[in-house]
Amino acid sequence: MKMFLDSAKTDEILHALEVWDIDGLTTNPRHVQAAGKPFRKTLEEIARLFEGKNKPVSVEVNPHLTEAPAMVKEGMELSAMSPCFVVKIGISEQGCLAIRELTKQGIRVNATLIHTAAQAWLAARAGAAYVSPFLGWKEAHGESAANLIPEVASLLSTHGYSAQIIAAAIRNACQLADAALAGAHCATAAFSLLQEAHQNPFTAYGEKIFQNAWDATPPS
Ligand code: E4P
Repeated sequence: MKMFLDSAKTDEILHALEVWDIDGLTTNPRHVQAAGKPFRKTLEEIARLFEGKNKPVSVEVNPHLTEAPAMVKEGMELSAMSPCFVVKIGISEQGCLAIRELTKQGIRVNATLIHTAAQAWLAARAGAAYVSPFLGWKEAHGESAANLIPEVASLLSTHGYSAQIIAAAIRNACQLADAALAGAHCATAAFSLLQEAHQNPFTAYGEKIFQNAWDATPPS
């Protein structure tokens, strides 16, 4: 399963590229806001960080856009900023129309805010290169997200859709592993979560035991 960072912050992206060799990046309007700079400037900086790398970077169209032609226009502008850019569009009827048009023009689309297998199917059918089921947001509203990735994975493979699943809004390392086991092609997560996923209290406990043994061993 590919590892994507979910962020628009330069320092986080640099660390993730250099230390984790991430496979790609996802952003959303909240991440761009958190980066603290204007939208275009943030995207230009991200484009530079990914120059010469064959790694997808999802960038979202203005979420106020409700009509396909406007989404397509902005999607084309974003796509022209970097060969890495994948246009992120929220799932909706007009969103699917925009996905179909952008895909026809050779522009990859990540269908975002997917909360049901039916939405994933509609996006895949429209030609989306990626579908992003949001696990954490479902759970935040009292719904189990445990079946979402297995259902979407089974639906896409049963019907031969080429869309890749990006397990999104991941809230813990267990969801990362579950997504991989269920067949997600990629998982995107916040910087802190990916950092924490490397750790476990028993690993720290074990290191301490080994350090004590090392120190108690005669040096020569
Ligand atoms: C995915 O592409 C989204 O950007 C992301 O996972 C949204 O969720 P979060 O910011 O609540 O984690």
